[in-house]
Amino acid sequence: MFNNNPFEGAFGLDIGDLSLKLIQLTPASVLSNDKRFHINHMGSIILPPGYIVNGEIQQPEMVRHKLLQLLGKDGHGKKISSPWVVVDLPEPKTFLTSIEIDIPPEQITREDVEYQCQKHLPFDLSEAYLDWQIVLQLEKSRHTRVLVGAAPKTIADSYTYLLESVGLQPIALEIESLAIARALMAKGDSAGAILDLGATRSSIIIYDAGGVRFSTTINFSGEIINMALIQQLKITYEESEELKTQNGLNYTKEKPDYLKILDELIDGLIIEIKKTITYYQDHYPQATPIEHIELCGGMAQMYNLSQTLARRLKISTKPGSAWNKINPATLTEKEKSLELTMASATGLALRAIINPYND
Ligand SMILES: Nc1ncnc2c1ncn2[C@@H]1O[C@H](COP(=O)(O)OP(=O)(O)OP(=O)(O)O)[C@@H](O)[C@H]1O
Ligand SMILES: [Mg+2]
Repeated sequence: MFNNNPFEGAFGLDIGDLSLKLIQLTPASVLSNDKRFHINHMGSIILPPGYIVNGEIQQPEMVRHKLLQLLGKDGHGKKISSPWVVVDLPEPKTFLTSIEIDIPPEQITREDVEYQCQKHLPFDLSEAYLDWQIVLQLEKSRHTRVLVGAAPKTIADSYTYLLESVGLQPIALEIESLAIARALMAKGDSAGAILDLGATRSSIIIYDAGGVRFSTTINFSGEIINMALIQQLKITYEESEELKTQNGLNYTKEKPDYLKILDELIDGLIIEIKKTITYYQDHYPQATPIEHIELCGGMAQMYNLSQTLARRLKISTKPGSAWNKINPATLTEKEKSLELTMASATGLALRAIINPYND
């Protein structure tokens, strides 16, 4: 097919507290039988702590400088010339849920949705941007399920300002959970959960056959593990990173207390997952049992983590596949190993190339 995307070269940019990650896709050749997208460009850059804190840009000039570097606009590396970008908004600052409204889909208006949102959203509507879409239902119904997302205007505006200051034109600012779900969910998946376990933030995304139902931030991250290890084992940050990546959830006789510290944090993670799943079953109409969990984010690679979660939650759990829709043929082994940390950037890049206006 011809690519009729008016935003030539549009790419995805994942802005985290400690990293900026970019993926730009291209369509498969018209002649190829394999229609999966190719990765044209993939890059990331580390942000020192303090530049962005909890999703708030604290040092805009420094972040701007790093972004220019990532885009190759500082005279080094491959330059991204397209101004078109789809960016995620920080999960802990945003809100995503689905609500049922007692009005048939064909009659629903923006006012109906806003009225219902006022009851559910943790923001004042005058201070937030609201986005919503009707979830398609197979059977005709007197009710409408609407997926609503909201973000504080101050946060969204500061991200837009940052992007424009480096010559980018945001075609969409997206709630991160939706980007992750786009990358990981496959057609026909039964109800499931995605756990995004990152450096500073983690979240659970609940979806069913109709798509994402809601997402929530959880109190677990690579940095929380690092802080616990640094304090309790009296080691450096670098030693903590190494211990964690070398041993995962395995015992090491070099540091006999290591596994005990990790186990306590995993106990907390398991409580949060159980609480979220129970909340979903109790509060969402037609909720079906969560049958599987997929992991993404850097910590999804932790040794023994998915096995431990599967055993303790009694739900099938595995690292997700963020590149279902991507052809990794041209990637090096090192690049392929970045799939799980690139899940958000991949979902954003998919939106950028498939349909930037909507899902
Ligand atoms: N093999 C591994 N075992 C354990 N932890 C790992 C492993 N590989 C990476 N990590 C951890 O994953 C984290 C990085 O994950 P990720 O790349 O998803 O974070 P991020 O997207 O930069 O951060 P955030 O989403 O929180 O803004 C770091 O804390 C890192 O230590
Ligand atoms: Mg992340």
